[in-house]
Order: sequence, then C-alpha cells, then structure tokens
Amino acid sequence: MVTVSLEGLRAEIRELTAQVEDHSYRYHVLDRPVITDSEYDELFRRLCRLEQEHPELAMPNSPTTKVGGPPVDKFTTVQHTLPMLSLDNLTNRDELADFEQRIQRFLKTDDPLEYVVEPKIDGIGVELVYENGDLAVGSTRGDGATGEDITQNIRTIRSVSLSLRRDGAPVPRLLAVRGEVFYPTEGFQRLNRQREEAGEYVFANPRNAAAGALKQLDSKITAGRPLDLFCHGMGTVEPASFASHADFLAALQSWGLKPVPLTRVCCNVEEIAAYQEEMESRRDALPYEIDGVVLKVNSLELQRRLGQIARSPRWAMAYKFKPRRSTTRILDIQAQVGRTGTLTPVASLEPVQLAGVTVRNASLHNMDEIERKDIRIGDAIVIERAGDVIPYVVRVLAEERDGSERVFAMPAQCPMCRSQVYREEGEAAYRCVGLACPAKLKESLRFFGSRNALDIEGLGEKLIDQLVAKKLVADSADLYGLEEDVLASLERMGAKSAQNLIRELGRSKDTTLSRFVTALGIRHVGEATAKVLADHFGSLDGIMTAGEEALTEVRDIGEEVARSIAGFFADEANRRVIDKLLAAGFRLEAEARAEGALTGLSFVLTGSLDTLSRGEAQKSITALGGRVAGNVSSKTDYVVVGADPGSKAGKARELGIPILDEDGLRAMLERG
Ligand code: IVH
Repeated sequence: MVTVSLEGLRAEIRELTAQVEDHSYRYHVLDRPVITDSEYDELFRRLCRLEQEHPELAMPNSPTTKVGGPPVDKFTTVQHTLPMLSLDNLTNRDELADFEQRIQRFLKTDDPLEYVVEPKIDGIGVELVYENGDLAVGSTRGDGATGEDITQNIRTIRSVSLSLRRDGAPVPRLLAVRGEVFYPTEGFQRLNRQREEAGEYVFANPRNAAAGALKQLDSKITAGRPLDLFCHGMGTVEPASFASHADFLAALQSWGLKPVPLTRVCCNVEEIAAYQEEMESRRDALPYEIDGVVLKVNSLELQRRLGQIARSPRWAMAYKFKPRRSTTRILDIQAQVGRTGTLTPVASLEPVQLAGVTVRNASLHNMDEIERKDIRIGDAIVIERAGDVIPYVVRVLAEERDGSERVFAMPAQCPMCRSQVYREEGEAAYRCVGLACPAKLKESLRFFGSRNALDIEGLGEKLIDQLVAKKLVADSADLYGLEEDVLASLERMGAKSAQNLIRELGRSKDTTLSRFVTALGIRHVGEATAKVLADHFGSLDGIMTAGEEALTEVRDIGEEVARSIAGFFADEANRRVIDKLLAAGFRLEAEARAEGALTGLSFVLTGSLDTLSRGEAQKSITALGGRVAGNVSSKTDYVVVGADPGSKAGKARELGIPILDEDGLRAMLERG
C-alpha cells in the first residue's frame, strides 16, 4: 500500500519537475510563456512542498535548487578545459580589410571567407561544463587558464538550464560552453534607483553590477538579481560533431541554452562593416549592453588551421563601437526632490557629446557617492553613459584642480517647500519631511500621467506647475474633479486644450490594473513589478490586502519591495486617495488574456500525448482562453490523460472530473 502511494508521489514529483522546468524555459529562454506567473508560482510552490515532505524523492537538479544554496567562505579555483582566450580589436574599416587579407594570406587562398558576426556583450565571461547533459561546473574566466568556481551562483541564473534538453541535437558526453553573464538594462536601472534612494553605492554600469552579483559568496543574494547569460563559444566538446560555429550556436539553442542573439552570417568585409554600423545604431534600443561586435570565421576547420597568436585567436576579432566615455566639467550641483521626497544631487555639466547624445546633466545619486568620489563643483570629471541614458560620473580628475573648486553640501531645507530635510538613522538618503511638498506632489503627478502609467496626454510639466501653485490639486485624484473652464483659464491653455485634457482624463479611467498600480507611484514599484502584482493577485483588493509576507512569496518581489508595497497600502492617506480615484469612476481590467471557446475552463495535462507535445497542447488551450494548471483540484474542469499518466488521472476519477483523451482534446480544440 505504502509503496504504491510513494510511486504515485514519485511520478507526480517527476511530472511537476518537468513542468516547472519547461515553463521556466519558455519564460526565461524562449520569452514566450504559456501560463501566467501565478500559475507558475502555484506549480513551483507545490513542487517545493512535495520535495520538503519527501526529500528522498526530489529529482537531482530540480528547478527548486535555483534559489541559491548555503554560503561559502571562498571560491575554489578550477582549470578550464581549454584556455579562455581574449580578443584583438579592430578600430576601423581599413583594419577590417587588413584582417581579411592577413588570414587569406595565412590560409593561402583568395576565396572569400564566411564569417559569423555577433554582438559583443558587455558582461562577464564564464565557462559552463555539462557532463552527460547535467550542469557540473560554472567558472569565471580568471587568468584564462584557471578561474573561480562559481557553480552555485551560475545555477541561480534563470535561463541557465541545469539539464540540457534532449529533444534536439544529440547531447554530448562533455560540453564546455563559454558565454557572457550580463545584467539586463532595466534591472540594472531598477537596482541603481533602489540603491540611490537608500543612499547606497551605485554601480557605474551593468557590467560592474553583474560582476558584483557573480562574486557573492552567498548564492541566495545572486538568486535575487536578474542576471542572464548568452552563450557564444566552445571549450572542449566530446564527441565533437560540428562543422561550423553557426552549427554550434544552433545546437546550443536545441539544448535549451541561449546563444547570443542577432547573429548573422556575412560573406565579405562590407557586410561585416554594415552589421557593425547597424548594431551601433540599435545599441540604445537593446535590453542589454553591447560594446561592439565580434566576427568569427565560421568554419571550425579553418579556425583550427588559423590557430592563435599569443592570447588571441587568429580567426576572431572584436570591432568596437565609439566609446561612451568622455571628460567634462561640473558647473554646479543642485538637489532635486523626487516623488518620494528623496533629495538627489544633480550636476549640471559643460555640455559634452557622448556616442551621439549631448549630455548636460548627471545624477550624482546621493551624498555618500559624492563623498566617496570626492566630487566638487568646478571639477573636471570622466563620465560614462552605459546601460542608461543618464550618465554616470566615473571619477574626478583631481590633478586638474586649481583650488577654486567648492564642496557641495545638502541643503538643510527642502529647496521647494522649505520644510526640514532629514537623514534617518541607518539610512544614507536625505528626505524632505514636508507632507505637502509641492516638488513631491509635482513629481507624483508627472509620474501618474506618464507613458507607462496612465498615459495622460496634455498633462505636462508647465500645467502641473500651475495646478500645484494655484492649489487646484493636492493629490492625483483631484485631477478628476477639475472643471473645464478653470483649466481653460490657465496660462498656455485655452478652451480646446482644456476640452482635450478633460477627455484624456476620462479616457484614462478605463485602464488596466497594472497601469493603475504603476500610477500610484509606490516606491520601488515600476511598470514591471506592477505587472507581476496584477498578474499574481488579479485584483486591486487582492494587492492591497496581501500583506508583506504574501508579497514576499511572489516571484521577482524581494523583501524590500514587499515592505514598501505593504507600507504604502497600510497608509491611511494613500488609501483615501485610492478611494477617491475609484469613486471618480476608474474601471480596472485584469491583464489582457486570450478569449475564446475555452475561456473560464481549467485543464490539467497528464501522461504523454501522441500527436501533440505537451507544450503545443498547452499553447492551443491558452490561445482559446483556457488555463492549464499543474494540479488537479475541485476547480479543474478537464483532465487530459495521455499514455503512462501520473497520479493525476486517479485523482480526477476520485473527484469526478471529466477525463479527456487525446482525441477528445483535439475535438474540443477544433470546435474552438
Ligand atoms: S568570443 C576566443 N563572442 O569579450 C574568442 N566573446 O574581449 C573568445 N565577449 O573574453 C571570445 N561577447 O568574454 C566572444 N559574442 C562574443 C562575445 C565575447 C562578449 C567577451 C568574452 C571575451 C571578451 C574579449
């Protein structure tokens, strides 16, 4: 009796593990999830619980181990399978042409060569070793021959498969793959914003943030950072079966790893140069930092014949972009008040060109940064624009000082409302205490109407200035009580613009839950976090009453953010504004979901289907508005049973839930 139920449990754990792995892969590698985050969380939590109750049944390399392990005292060193080389640089087109001639001479050929060109990811080089398809070791590049063993940290990266998928290219006995760990730009900006608000040290660029996260001795900290990895090279592969670098990249994809994106095959130097220019122009729009392109001779046989010079291969080159670093001078420093009352010191600069953009201001983040770097008014500085449109002061050129430079001090009174400025015990940030500080109000109104929040056209800075100065609004809800003739009487307004704004305000009330939550301007909650909240809780009430603990359990929400959200909704005044907004007639839609014949129906899949992969079945169901859940419960509408089903088929019978076989599902999908 006992063994039977244990077998059932084992099957269920195996199935849940496969499901969680598959959904995680769809989300983090393919970027095409087929279930909602809350459905994923449900699966994940159930797997955690079963594994906790029966640790002996947990699958090796279970996705639940991706949350980090016990901290270590120091990293041990590991030998790379083959040396990790570095790249030589090309700086212009002439050098590119010389490069091609040089290797043609070396190969004694006039034939055109084929290249693969890739973006050069500005991250941290690492090597991953898979033994029989399982991740065994992850290491830093180190000196090229030996690096540090950071397996525990690498394992926490969401898109790194702990086991290679076996439905594509044959999985080699030994696979050493090289790649670049990077910090996505959006996450980097969020990290720095949080650090800026807390008055902590901010990172100069995403690369430094990635390095900081990777060298944590406590992998739980690494797990809390949104690191990602692109693969771009080969170490030892046994058995080796590729003819070209492009083949290798395709195999990586089939194993569930992420090859560098936007790669291209080029057949001459003109194409390479065009690619480099194209990437440079697309650079700002990419969600990660790149600092050039890499060109590689595609044929592995030719790569072997070309070999290496010193520490760099003869068959590959980096072709970098124009630098985003420059020097300029600080003309003045002023404190700006943000919507949460934090005073941020901002430097006005002697205007300078940085990779095509004229830079006039730079955030100095907080007082600690200024003191740490000893930044003074009048200083010559090195600035960098990386992973952010907002440039960063890298360092002061102290040797250029002539004695006229002045030290900056935070004002004791808010520059806007003259309220006291304070620095809380244990916090480095300075804040304005003024409850009615117009700067805070203006910022929060601007944010309320901004593109990612309620997108209210016509609610510009000049208008907000007047609304606040004339005390026409004291909070965002007051916007909805504004009268057309009052608006029309304001400077630079008029009957037409007043009418348009009233219409825009009316329109803004039909919005999504996530936009509404974004618009509230909760500290640490931007568009992405608001989406996560909306998806997870499904209603404003759900989010408002969740409480800190339940919030911490949501994927991608850490303790600090959870505390900030719970604190926001616990505040009487905030609740009053929300009530006022709802009373003004807001209609919040849950996030868009597909609608169709299966809307409202919940399916559970078990066993393997003949003509459909589980993923395909899932996609077809969600495309018609249905949901696919991981577990059978009284809320399940149908259980689809294939060959060798797990315990779920039994559970369905027990609960009297209708069972569909493959043909039944097919018929239902076709009807839809
Ligand atoms: S191939 C033997 N491809 O840049 C050639 N490297 O400056 C090995 N990098 O150590 C490198 N993106 O960490 C290659 N698409 C890409 C890359 C890339 C970034 C890094 C890599 C390398 C460094 C050399």
